[in-house]
Amino acid sequence: MLAAGASVDERVIEGALRPQLLADFVGQQVVREQLSLVLDAAKARSATPDHILLSGPPGLGKTTLSMIVAHELNAPLRVTSGPAIQHAGDLAAILSSLTEGEVLFLDEIHRMARPAEEMLYVAMEDFRVDVIVGKGPGATAIPLELPPFTLVGATTRAGMLPGPLRDRFGFTGHLDFYAPAELERVLRRSAELLGVELTEEGGAEIAGRSRGTPRIANRLLRRVRDWAQVRGDGVLDLDASRAALEVYAVDERGLDRLDRSVLEALCRRFGGGPVGLSTLAVSVGEEPETVETVAEPFLVREGLLGRTPRGRIATPATWEHLGLTPPPGYSWVGASTGGGTLTSRAGMAQDPLPDPGT
Ligand SMILES: Nc1ncnc2c1ncn2[C@@H]1O[C@H](COP(=O)(O)OP(=O)(O)O)[C@@H](O)[C@H]1O
Ligand SMILES: [Mg+2]
Repeated sequence: MLAAGASVDERVIEGALRPQLLADFVGQQVVREQLSLVLDAAKARSATPDHILLSGPPGLGKTTLSMIVAHELNAPLRVTSGPAIQHAGDLAAILSSLTEGEVLFLDEIHRMARPAEEMLYVAMEDFRVDVIVGKGPGATAIPLELPPFTLVGATTRAGMLPGPLRDRFGFTGHLDFYAPAELERVLRRSAELLGVELTEEGGAEIAGRSRGTPRIANRLLRRVRDWAQVRGDGVLDLDASRAALEVYAVDERGLDRLDRSVLEALCRRFGGGPVGLSTLAVSVGEEPETVETVAEPFLVREGLLGRTPRGRIATPATWEHLGLTPPPGYSWVGASTGGGTLTSRAGMAQDPLPDPGT
């Protein structure tokens, strides 16, 4: 079970838990307000809104927001994804069948094939697709007008998108990890929809261990429900939450198997780093992209992992969290993290002064 990716079964349940209106979408205040302006203005002009790009780690609500966009506009929604578009022809088929005002959701847009990308530029900007008829020297391009539509692209790696593609989105919303109080609201809402009783303490406990991610919060809620129904009295209270999360080996900071194996490898095998992303990924048996997009954003935000030009490094908090002592001579020189520069020097056995030369 990967950190925040969704399995097939889960997608069915997620569908049922997805808010349909912007007003029911918890948290992400900034993105929500920006998006509501984009949508309201378009509605007021009776026009299709600009293309929208949503970026952020898995499980934070990109797919949900794309569905909300279609719902709020009262427009039909077409769903596809980058990996499903291997040839320009795949995209041409989708584009040429769009109806006026339709919302096209293109998930994992950074994984689309190059030739399709170029076709997408033209479609986004000029609402036109050039259909190639025939083969070889006799082939001709017949321009086909498209009705106005809104593309909603989602990506876990905005930095991977080519500039020309990024520039064609009129609005980019970046989703960030949720605060525990926001996750508590997500959990209360889900508990109500699932028809289970969740106590305040139970909700707080689950929220605190959900890695800032609604998908994980909802997943843990269901595991706690299982426990409460089988071993408890059906109520999702503090005891049930703690006991269930214990069974599923979610630690008190919400780190899961992948997170922990990354940190363990970093400390135990590479002495705290610096170690390159691909080496680290190989040593935990994962793709570099998975480590980078699924595990790292949260670890960096929590100050449990540092990114430096020379590679990934453990922080004092990493050693502490794993209950390990850094090797003699290990030096923490600080690294840029999501929240700025880490300067905490607590928990160090050997604690030399920062050396700007290393
Ligand atoms: N802001 C939110 N409020 C309520 N539920 C949310 C929110 N964001 C995500 N969820 C829930 O989390 C799950 C995963 O969200 P999803 O949109 O599929 O994430 P992503 O596409 O970014 O991976 C969905 O079941 C959805 O109901
Ligand atoms: Mg998604």
